[in-house]
Amino acid sequence: PLPEPYRTPLPIPPVLRPAGDGRYTIAQRETVMEILPGVHTPMWTYEGTFPGPTIESRRGRPITVTHRNELPVPTVVHLHGGRTPAASDGYPTDLILPEGGHHAGMHMGNDPRAVVSHVTRDYTFPLEQRPTLLWYHDHRMDFTGPAIWRGLAGLHIVRDDAEENLGLPSGPRELPLVLADRAFAADGSLAYPALDPTLQERPGVRPAYLAGVQGDVILVNGAPWPVHEVDAARYRLRVLNASNSRHYELEARTDDGRRLDLVQVGADQGLLAAPVVHGSLPIAPAERYDIVVDFSAVPAGARVRLRNLLGEGRTTDVMAFRVARRAPDDSRVPPVLCTDLPTWRRGDAVRVRDLAFRAGRMGGEHGWLIGGRPFDPARADVTTALGDVEVWRLVADVHHPVHLHLVGFRVLSRRGRAPLAHDAGLKDTVSLRPGEAVEIITRFEGYRGRYLFHCHNAEHEDMGMMANLEIT
Ligand code: C2O
Ligand code: CU
Repeated sequence: PLPEPYRTPLPIPPVLRPAGDGRYTIAQRETVMEILPGVHTPMWTYEGTFPGPTIESRRGRPITVTHRNELPVPTVVHLHGGRTPAASDGYPTDLILPEGGHHAGMHMGNDPRAVVSHVTRDYTFPLEQRPTLLWYHDHRMDFTGPAIWRGLAGLHIVRDDAEENLGLPSGPRELPLVLADRAFAADGSLAYPALDPTLQERPGVRPAYLAGVQGDVILVNGAPWPVHEVDAARYRLRVLNASNSRHYELEARTDDGRRLDLVQVGADQGLLAAPVVHGSLPIAPAERYDIVVDFSAVPAGARVRLRNLLGEGRTTDVMAFRVARRAPDDSRVPPVLCTDLPTWRRGDAVRVRDLAFRAGRMGGEHGWLIGGRPFDPARADVTTALGDVEVWRLVADVHHPVHLHLVGFRVLSRRGRAPLAHDAGLKDTVSLRPGEAVEIITRFEGYRGRYLFHCHNAEHEDMGMMANLEIT
């Protein structure tokens, strides 16, 4: 039986302590966790927790993270939203092989450019980028969906002085919220409809799940429908949708029906120019929203529920806040949050590309394709020069959250019209809704090398909806 909602306290993922100056180590290992009360669930974890430990870093201060693969399969680590040199970006064939994992049968994708490591690998992150909430997760070719589902995801928060000086809610009033739905089998294990449950050879999911895998249990920071006790004050909620394919539309309401504003202060790639007020906020897989919620008008003892307007039955519940007490609050949401957002204009673009995200056939089977083709590590799909500004016109059949590695972009238009309120700021993932055309603009800056763009519905990604982005 599933637990009653709003009973389990909200866990906060532990912050990873550095092993030395700017050096971190993470062991990837199998752990049995108690996600549902009294139920034992084997997970694949970073350091034994789900979500993995949070890395807290400072803008411009490089760090190195050594990952050690103690799992039975190869792994790959990608820092989502990181401006990372290609060698540390977690290309899907740059595998960390497990102990003894040199044998034939390890799915390698036949990529001549792959740089394979044995058991450990150092990832170096310069972090020359705007402060924001990033996340790290597995990115192995063809098996990203089941690896994230089993637990390979964690947060990384980049900070800087300018952001800290704004006076936004902080300390215990800044809460990371990792949303992830999961399904549990009768034996307590996570239910994932993989064709090969060992996740070694044959990729893919059973035909009924081609649209993406979803679960009937909503976890926040790894706990089912948790509750968190708050002061009657402002809180900064740093929300990540780490679900494989579930979209949410979040709304905060008191039990007596009053809706609280969701004041957005940041997007995937950091602060907005100015706050944007939402009544409800859609969040696609891999998107992050930085929002401030003010509980000061909620009477002590009352409850505020964060609900999912796109859910059905139990998946409409997400988590609750119990307002425990009145308390002083010297936080603020300044009317100007930052002045450093890029202002690329259509006229700056040296080229325009059309990219269609649609279902199709992949070697006789159902696949998800970009420009009519499934992912192939050996092909350069998009080649651009470092420093070029481009406009991309993205079109979709069904819902596809499209993510570009390395760069942040701005949304120029949706369906030929002005972007929506939640498209504000600098993004790295944009939610293409069914049948929609969205234009984005970016400058390819940072590093040269082989990067990716793909759909972040993790099952679509594993079934071909990924392409190479070669920066020369
Ligand atoms: Cu969140 Cu290519 O990844
Ligand atoms: Cu998709």
